[in-house]
Amino acid sequence: MILKDKRILLIVAGGIAAYKSLDLIRRLRERGAVVIPVMTKAAGEFVTELAVGALAARKVHTDLFSREDEVDVGHIRLARDCDLVLAAPATADLMAKMANGLANDLASTVLIATDRPVLMAPAMNPRMWANPAVARNAAQLRADGVRFIGPMRGEMAEGGEAGLGRMAEPLDIVAEVEALLDRSPKPLAGKRAIVTSGPTHEPIDPVRYIANRSSGTQGHAIASALARAGADVVLVSGPVALADPAGVKVVHVERAEEMRDAVLAALPADIAVMVAAVADWRVATAAGEKIKKSADGSVPSLPLTENPDILRTVGHHQQRPRLVVGFAAETSDVETNARAKLDRKGADLIVANDVSPETGIMGGKRNTVALIGRDGVERWPDMSKEEVAGRLVALIAGRLAEV
Ligand code: C5P
Repeated sequence: MILKDKRILLIVAGGIAAYKSLDLIRRLRERGAVVIPVMTKAAGEFVTELAVGALAARKVHTDLFSREDEVDVGHIRLARDCDLVLAAPATADLMAKMANGLANDLASTVLIATDRPVLMAPAMNPRMWANPAVARNAAQLRADGVRFIGPMRGEMAEGGEAGLGRMAEPLDIVAEVEALLDRSPKPLAGKRAIVTSGPTHEPIDPVRYIANRSSGTQGHAIASALARAGADVVLVSGPVALADPAGVKVVHVERAEEMRDAVLAALPADIAVMVAAVADWRVATAAGEKIKKSADGSVPSLPLTENPDILRTVGHHQQRPRLVVGFAAETSDVETNARAKLDRKGADLIVANDVSPETGIMGGKRNTVALIGRDGVERWPDMSKEEVAGRLVALIAGRLAEV
């Protein structure tokens, strides 16, 4: 419970994404945080003070010149009597003010007056985010020590337009807040870890590809847990619909060969956890143009060729990490198949799971795994993928601590 009794001063600025701030307040409070809301005048055009105040179960601060507030708390105390200042959504205007030291309303004054860490979750139209002035302000804020989460790629709330500009999802913002306020022990401090996650997309032609049902949930959770334990993490991710985990360097790839190259480029490392569902085969020669239907109804054939085995490459590499962990997603004879993989792939540990459709594991939120090592098998009960990640990282830290 990292957020238990932590005081989060939440600035809600005026953007359509403010509707997500309501959920964000709930999520923060669910984890035990105290949310002290500040709304800009423009925020009130999108969400009401009543809704924000009801969800936070606190008074909403809006006015720099409120006589009552100034007597009560004062804007300086408001800015400092918290563990973190979170601006979500952070608009172009709010960013511009802070980047330039402007303080002409309560929100901007709080940002200038605070001596606490500041996290911004920008949300704006993609063209605005791409504007050089906004980019300049974001760079300035980063240089001044402000942390950012997002914006994300996706469709805008107002519809129609897509691009970089969506506010990060509330749960991802919560995870970032937790990462920033985490004071837990760091058993993996100073250790480097490489994680692969998600599926790969193997092109057939410029518009079609071969993929699989991996969502990246387990791999991303492991990357997060390693980072929380203090490791320096490179996450090589195939195409997924997940936000980049907090405190992790993410390399986005599509194909298995790109994933292999990114993994090898990230060596040396102390730990490798290969969770990605890498396609075993790719189309031998992807077409340069979209393959057209033929008039006579003949069907194209797609000769396949084998993809590089990334785990095996890492497991037998000159710069082999001290601990190499693989996954084995099987639909039958799970443990027997996993044991065979240990030697073949040069892994120290194989995390085996049954991904038969009825288990719902592939793409789902829970996992039931068995850990196959040289010294035997350990079966874990059904748990969330986050719990699997946490326990696996504890086990990794334990193994690395052994001489
Ligand atoms: O052979 P199989 O695909 O079942 O092995 C699964 C394990 O190997 C996983 O850890 C997966 O990330 C890894 N793997 C890989 N490169 C491949 C195939 C699998 O790294 N081409």
